[in-house]
Amino acid sequence: MIIYVLYAVLGLISYLFVIKPLTEMIRLKLQFGKDCKISFNFFGKEIYDQLKETKESKNERDIFNKQKTAYNKYQYKFFMTNMLWIIRISIADPLYQKEALLNHQLYQKVDPVCHNDLLSKGLMWSKGEQWKKQRLLLSSSFEFDSLKKKVPMINEITQSKIDNFSNENVLSSLQSITGLIVIKSFFGIQTDQIYINNTELQVEIANIMNEMGYMRFKSQIQSTKRLIFGTKAWKIFPTKEEKKLLQRVKDMRLIVENLVQQRIKYFEDSNNSQINNNENFLNILVNEYLKIKNKKQQETTLDQIIQEFITLQFAGTDTTAVLLYHCLYFLAYYPQAQEEIRREINESCPSSYINENEINNLKKLSAFINEVLRLKNPAMRPIIRVATQDHKLKDLKIKKGWLVCIDYFLQNQSEKHFDNAGQFNYTRWLQDKPIKEDNNFIYMPFSAGPRNCIGSQMALLEVKIILGQILKRYQIMINKNVEVSWEIHFNHQLSPTNAVILNKIK
Ligand code: HEM
Ligand SMILES: *[C@@H]1O[C@H](CO)[C@@H](O)[C@H](O)[C@H]1NC(C)=O
Ligand SMILES: *[C@@H]1O[C@H](CO)[C@@H](O)[C@H](O)[C@H]1NC(C)=O
Ligand SMILES: *[C@@H]1O[C@H](CO)[C@@H](O)[C@H](O)[C@H]1NC(C)=O
Ligand SMILES: *[C@@H]1O[C@H](CO)[C@@H](O)[C@H](O)[C@H]1NC(C)=O
Ligand SMILES: *[C@@H]1O[C@H](CO)[C@@H](O)[C@H](O)[C@H]1NC(C)=O
Ligand SMILES: *[C@@H]1O[C@H](CO)[C@@H](O)[C@H](O)[C@H]1NC(C)=O
Repeated sequence: MIIYVLYAVLGLISYLFVIKPLTEMIRLKLQFGKDCKISFNFFGKEIYDQLKETKESKNERDIFNKQKTAYNKYQYKFFMTNMLWIIRISIADPLYQKEALLNHQLYQKVDPVCHNDLLSKGLMWSKGEQWKKQRLLLSSSFEFDSLKKKVPMINEITQSKIDNFSNENVLSSLQSITGLIVIKSFFGIQTDQIYINNTELQVEIANIMNEMGYMRFKSQIQSTKRLIFGTKAWKIFPTKEEKKLLQRVKDMRLIVENLVQQRIKYFEDSNNSQINNNENFLNILVNEYLKIKNKKQQETTLDQIIQEFITLQFAGTDTTAVLLYHCLYFLAYYPQAQEEIRREINESCPSSYINENEINNLKKLSAFINEVLRLKNPAMRPIIRVATQDHKLKDLKIKKGWLVCIDYFLQNQSEKHFDNAGQFNYTRWLQDKPIKEDNNFIYMPFSAGPRNCIGSQMALLEVKIILGQILKRYQIMINKNVEVSWEIHFNHQLSPTNAVILNKIK
């Protein structure tokens, strides 16, 4: 009897962990031949490999290295692998990527911190009607005409911080600028820096997210818990470290909630006179909140507003700061380009503030940023998605539950679309047609389709003003005392944080 039960269990396990995923892989292999590369992992081998790799290779913590090497060698369209019973497919071919991005409603994005109180209800990770409503509400604020009004604020913040730039930690100096810009965009320009225990709010949020996100690589227990329990994982036998993080999440949320409540109260008290003022994101959201009369719905909406702030802070602070940091590194690495761009800025922007008309004339700076984004985009791999139903991308059949990665970063390698694709050469972007055989889904530093980056114009505006001001004031040089590497945190980023030195120009 026991023997039969054992057989049944073994049968089930091998069906679930071996036969089922393997059948799917073989199916696609037969259909696509060499265009589909498969790699089967027995019993969680991948998780084991990933943990090992993360622990061992301190210098090259680029967990996508293997994938890039494989792509260069095989030039596949899809790469299929499995984590236990879950199939993961990485899509490298632009035409299939385009299909997936245009049909975004077929997927649910996977929240990297796997926690219900932080990002799940914000613009980036919500889905369906909930997402649509938020996107519609905020999208006009992210168009250039609205963003123009932020130019003085961005200049002021940059100016107030730039003289006190820390060469010990250049990245954190940049984060402190981009984070404050998001805070003022959200809460309003009159809002000052917000601190939690002497740490700037934006820094605390970035730290929390990084630590929570990184936990799944660092701790085998965490990654297993998440696989089984999803967002409930944090509540199940939390370790001491996890408990500490959860407390910080609570503290941080409380501070944000107080600010939101204050605004709600202010609006309620001020007899609607302020309500049409869309100067900042919070006003728009509170305006919507006040239309709701149902108590329960108000609570949900309040939670959503808090999460929207965390989402925008998370999406807008580090990405932009890391891009700036990468720009500084390449400016230091290519001193001649640095001189050419500094000259352009000197000629186009006479005063210490850079205005929006001047920004449009900075063609070289713009080209330079494009090139940095092409090769070292902080958001190198967009968020992983889960298929919520069976569907087809052209002739590729995807089943419900598969993890789908749209790996556009692999295209930067492609000679098909760029001359000397591996070379850093910003002047390529000054040509009439910088991208060969373009279909608008080849170069997508901010993703594409309906769920592209809502903040792309804001990010570029910030980066141009901040770089402009830095170039006017500083000579940027490589720090020869440190050895650099490209790491994966949440973003793909240059490490350490003092890879460049800024020297004041007299
Ligand atoms: C250099 C800076 C930035 C880069 C490289 C970047 C990149 C991206 C990418 C690739 C996505 C798509 C992710 C996916 O769905 O797979 C995205 C989405 C998003 N980004 Fe950005 N981003 C940047 C700056 C910003 C800023 C400044 C903000 C706002 C303050 C922002 C807000 C968002 C939001 C809300 C989404 C989700 C949009 C939606 O799903 O409808 N980003 N970003
Ligand atoms: C400049 O930075 C130092 C240390 O990073 C800090 O102690 C000081 O208060 C800052 N000064 C200003 C004016 O912000
Ligand atoms: C500040 O730090 C102390 C000790 O590190 C901690 O107990 C407290 O909860 C923190 N407060 C906030 C608001 O994070
Ligand atoms: C608000 O408006 C009402 C009438 O519309 C008025 O009676 C009241 O005094 C106003 N309150 C404030 C604080 O302005
Ligand atoms: C740009 O302006 C700065 C400050 O006015 C000056 O020191 C520098 O030589 C100028 N650089 C170029 C390339 O014109
Ligand atoms: C493409 O981008 C990756 C990641 O940023 C980088 O490591 C790689 O060197 C780039 N490829 C080429 C050909 O430059
Ligand atoms: C950089 O690109 C431009 C435009 O494609 C080309 O004319 C130039 O020769 C390239 N520079 C180098 C050093 O390859």
